[in-house]
Amino acid sequence: MFEGVEEVWMDGEFVDFEDATTHVLSHALHYGTGVFEGVRCYDTAKGSAVFRWDEHLDRFYQSAKPYDMEIPFDRDELTEATLELIRREGLDSCYIRPLAFRGHGPLGVDPRGAPVSVTVAVWPWGAYLGEEALEEGVDVAVSSWRKHASSQIPTNSKTTGAYVNSVLASLEADSNGYVEAIVLNKEGNVAEGPGENLFLVRDGELYTTGLSESILDGITRQSVIEIAEDLGYEVHDTVSISRGELYTADELFFTGTAAEVTPIRSVDDNVIGEGTKGPVTDEIQTKFFEVIEDAPEAYADWFTPV
Ligand SMILES: Cc1ncc(COP(=O)(O)O)c(C=O)c1O
Repeated sequence: MFEGVEEVWMDGEFVDFEDATTHVLSHALHYGTGVFEGVRCYDTAKGSAVFRWDEHLDRFYQSAKPYDMEIPFDRDELTEATLELIRREGLDSCYIRPLAFRGHGPLGVDPRGAPVSVTVAVWPWGAYLGEEALEEGVDVAVSSWRKHASSQIPTNSKTTGAYVNSVLASLEADSNGYVEAIVLNKEGNVAEGPGENLFLVRDGELYTTGLSESILDGITRQSVIEIAEDLGYEVHDTVSISRGELYTADELFFTGTAAEVTPIRSVDDNVIGEGTKGPVTDEIQTKFFEVIEDAPEAYADWFTPV
């Protein structure tokens, strides 16, 4: 995955890949006190550009808030560091991973004595669930692990430690022979995938779980809502979706920076629709890829040129 990656930006400097290390007594290693982002840079018709960088930066700073973590670099500094890193690595398209974490300081649950480190790494990355998944769809299973409620760990914050929930759901899905999991929330309704939001199509309208369902406020989710509305679809984005509705949906698909727009062809071995990418999913996915390939004028503010 990291073959050919030469440098990582770390606390204000570009350091060699092998030197981008931290102490074993870092607070984040023990207590999960880090926040991160996952962003894509696309090779668009108008040149390399980072997709929805401003929104990812907004979420990065917001993620740190509940943890009383001040990120010691401002937006311009992180933007310049990231764009320069992409240029130095010579990448036209890539995945971008900003991370802020509590480093080596006093080791107790209270994090405030531990310094905050900030890093950005970039690397080449294709389709997360595979090219075939984008065309044919994926087989998923409802996880026996529930998503933690936002009253336990804020789910609108992309916190490193909280991702053990996603790790458990992914491990379970994989060991049972599924590509991905769907995680229910504490109430037993649909939350999201381990790294994706979920959309359901019924009678030509779109439904996606609301922010109070213990989900991450996905930036691809926001983009797909906008694209779908621009295409004339009615989108219901504050709803609860029950487990049973998954099985009877006309179409289902995941959205995420990694998964982009990935159709779901079965849930718990129940075939969804025709068992392949449905027509609404196809139209939205096609438009999504057109937007990231062309960076058209109508969506120009979604792109930050490298
Ligand atoms: C738990 C979870 N839900 C949803 C998403 C999708 O969010 P985005 O579209 O911003 O990548 C992600 C990925 O970041 C995630 O980790």
